[in-house]
Amino acid sequence: MTLKSTLADMDKAHLIHPLTHPRHFEHHPPRIIVEGQGVMVRDTEGKEYIDGFSGLWCMAVGHSHPKILEAVGEQMKKLSYFTSFHGSSSPPSIELAAKLTSMFDPSYNLTRAWFTCGGSETNETNIKLARFYWAVQGRSEKCKIVSRRYSYHGMGLATTAATGIFPFHFNIDPLPEGFVKVAAPYCYQCELDLSYPGCDLACVKEAEETILEEGPETIAAFMAEPVIGSGGVIPPPEDYFPRIREICDKHDILLILDEVITGFGRTGRMFAHEHWGGIRPDMLSLAKGISSGHIPLGASVVRGDIYDTIGERQDERLPLMHGFTYMNHPVACAAGLANIEVIEQEGLVRKAAENGAYLLERLTALKKYDSVGDVRGMGMLAAIELVADKETKMPMQPENAAPDLLVDLCWDKGLFIRSSTMETVCIAPALIMDRATIDRMVDVIDRSIPEMEERLLKGPARQA
Ligand SMILES: Cc1ncc(COP(=O)(O)O)c(C=O)c1O
Repeated sequence: MTLKSTLADMDKAHLIHPLTHPRHFEHHPPRIIVEGQGVMVRDTEGKEYIDGFSGLWCMAVGHSHPKILEAVGEQMKKLSYFTSFHGSSSPPSIELAAKLTSMFDPSYNLTRAWFTCGGSETNETNIKLARFYWAVQGRSEKCKIVSRRYSYHGMGLATTAATGIFPFHFNIDPLPEGFVKVAAPYCYQCELDLSYPGCDLACVKEAEETILEEGPETIAAFMAEPVIGSGGVIPPPEDYFPRIREICDKHDILLILDEVITGFGRTGRMFAHEHWGGIRPDMLSLAKGISSGHIPLGASVVRGDIYDTIGERQDERLPLMHGFTYMNHPVACAAGLANIEVIEQEGLVRKAAENGAYLLERLTALKKYDSVGDVRGMGMLAAIELVADKETKMPMQPENAAPDLLVDLCWDKGLFIRSSTMETVCIAPALIMDRATIDRMVDVIDRSIPEMEERLLKGPARQA
């Protein structure tokens, strides 16, 4: 028995894989990765792959960065865990809160942070904080969360309800109430059947109309990813978020920006909301790039006066009734501190902006293929949307077969990228990836698209 076959058998027999059909392994062998270094990973047979997806949009500084490994090791030796409940803490969590809150425009007053194990916990935390904030002011009816179709906010029950990719809602009823959906600025396939800029951002108007129908006095927060990620990498038009901010201000609604994917340089700015000056988030959700995936970590960052209001109004006998065992974890926070230092010292945000523009240019050339309907992106975050027909923009059949097949063909050639349920393949390399590797990555995609087309557009099943 080889290491590969032993592990593969154990995997198939015992391990549950997220977002994987339980019968997946009837047709596919497990992909068991044993090593990662920089932008490369290696499997049990020693085959190398370019990691074109940063694990799961998370390895900003690449795999196994020595400075993070050292920081984690040192912290593990000093203090591996202590609770932060009931007023306790540890130096790394204090230092990371201070560092993180210094990274935003001071006029935004984002002075408070606490740390979770990832994006879902962070969004659940921010949804609860938004509700606490209104409830302590005697406005507990102001509890609904507005989010967009195509959005992804996590796997908790509230965050699933906030998610606008509807297959995530199947078979888990009843979902919590109080989650309202509005249109996304998905210009390539506009659900309102309009074109930007002639539409004058009809999706924003639709959002405001929905808010008015629901009653602004019932809405706690508008939750949005600056660039929709899992829903197919959808950057918004320039004027979209300024208009959303205006609507939130007008109707006294908190803006929760979910920068779980876009934070820490991914889009070519440290945080994506910096692209559209003046978009002050009231709360921010961060994860993934905060520790480059080396250890689970997320952060909820909150306007100081929101926290103060809860402090002033909350019944003194009742603490802030929220917390996870691993909140403010010292080892995870030490990893976060080291990771941010690497991003800053190695100039990775500028690098992501420059190399991201190159990546987008190279990917855009793939529009030469019949099946490549749209290519879009921002920084080291990009997607290719696949269609059966560029005129009608109809997807290839069966649903999701095209992106799944393209991802498999790339994998066979030594490249990892990911499909999304929205007929796209998503590309999100580590911010350290150089242009030569970007070239190798795009070349693999370039060679794989005709094979995918051959099977799905021109193959025997298609002709029959
Ligand atoms: C925008 C966004 N929010 C939240 C989450 C959930 O994060 P996690 O998987 O760490 O719980 C994700 C995960 O991909 C995400 O992309």
